[in-house]
Amino acid sequence: MKMKQLILVVLAVVVVVVTAGPRERRQIPQDCQWFESCFDETLAVDLPVNEAEGAERTTRAAEPQQNQGQGQTLAPLDTYDKCNNGRGSCVPYYLCHDGDIVTDGAGLFDIRLGDLDPLASRSSSECSQFLDVCCNNPQTENPQPIAYQAHCGRRNANGVHARITGTGFQDNQAQFGEFPWMAAVLRKEKIHDKEVNLYICGGSLIHPSVVLTAAHCIGSWQASDLVVRLGEWDTQRTYELLKHQERKVRTVVVHPDYVPRALHNTYALLFLDTPADLTPNVDTVCLNTAYNYGNCWATGWGTDKYGQEGEYQNVLKKVELGVWNNKECENALRETRLGKFFKLDDSFVCAGGLPGQDTCKGDGGSPLVCPRGDGFYTQAGIVAWGIGCGEAGVPGVYANITHSRDWIIQTSNQVLEAMQVPVPAATYWN
Ligand SMILES: *[C@@H]1O[C@H](CO)[C@@H](O)[C@H](O)[C@H]1NC(C)=O
Repeated sequence: MKMKQLILVVLAVVVVVVTAGPRERRQIPQDCQWFESCFDETLAVDLPVNEAEGAERTTRAAEPQQNQGQGQTLAPLDTYDKCNNGRGSCVPYYLCHDGDIVTDGAGLFDIRLGDLDPLASRSSSECSQFLDVCCNNPQTENPQPIAYQAHCGRRNANGVHARITGTGFQDNQAQFGEFPWMAAVLRKEKIHDKEVNLYICGGSLIHPSVVLTAAHCIGSWQASDLVVRLGEWDTQRTYELLKHQERKVRTVVVHPDYVPRALHNTYALLFLDTPADLTPNVDTVCLNTAYNYGNCWATGWGTDKYGQEGEYQNVLKKVELGVWNNKECENALRETRLGKFFKLDDSFVCAGGLPGQDTCKGDGGSPLVCPRGDGFYTQAGIVAWGIGCGEAGVPGVYANITHSRDWIIQTSNQVLEAMQVPVPAATYWN
């Protein structure tokens, strides 16, 4: 009964969203699925609202308090479920260190150095929440401030404060804070007097005040319809140590040569009303023109678990890909139903297409990043469209960042100047 109601609500939301925007039906990617989310069907996702309002979604009376990465303190222990015959509490994995609850915020950042398996101390099924562990109760509380040095393209391959491994965690799930530039583009809407967040697309933070996404994600939405969420990891729960940051969108600029029917030049810039605070889980991606074509990553939340009202985790997914030469990509796409006269526009770049590689788990507007050779990552593409999903020999198609890098930078500088946000130095985007 409850499930049926849920499905009806979700369907209703999808119908509302799909009929709300005057989007044209597209011809090319008819059966695009998760990763290359069909641009004419906005996905409906009920994301939990931020910490304070999100209380009704958690079984716990209170979540641990924290202050934008400036150290954190534990909520009173009696707000956590008891375990280990009352000697321990069920807490999020990042608060547990060697079986003892961590109360020193700074110490959390040492967990990854020891390469602990945070799930190792999980005692069977005593703690029911995903990534909660049974931890011995602490002796003292002593929060400390944490400093963070921002840098574009920093991938935290081992997570920000702990590497998550073990049962229930899959290889295609990103570590917490692994891709700090990853953004979720959302739309707030009132449904049955309740404000819900509807997921539209992925995006990437290229400047503390600028998010890059696909033009086909924007459709007819206005800046005032949109919000951007940064530092998000599991869309269904708000248990992360470093909370996500939500920003209103003040201005939207779509590329002047965007062709909705063919998705040429599908670039859009979202300017945030207040700059993001750069923290270990929220930072920018680089915008370089030279990068490796191998060991690139696409990330996205996909759609498979959305709308489950917080019952299941929906952790950011990642897939490793290689970038194609455009001519070879055009040839490969001509073997599909696109036909032998298909012409791949210069504004595209292709990636993926290896059999067995799941390239579907993500969304339109999400970034494709490649290593620039010094350990940092630069954005190479924006998820645009595909033919099918993860089919051998058929790559996914992305907007080519290099192709419009000048427009991205010039437009950003112009709008930032108009917004009276300090314009970055010429070297910033490198
Ligand atoms: C992307 O665009 C740039 C500039 O137009 C071009 O030099 C580059 O070859 C393109 N990338 C690929 C993989 O085709």
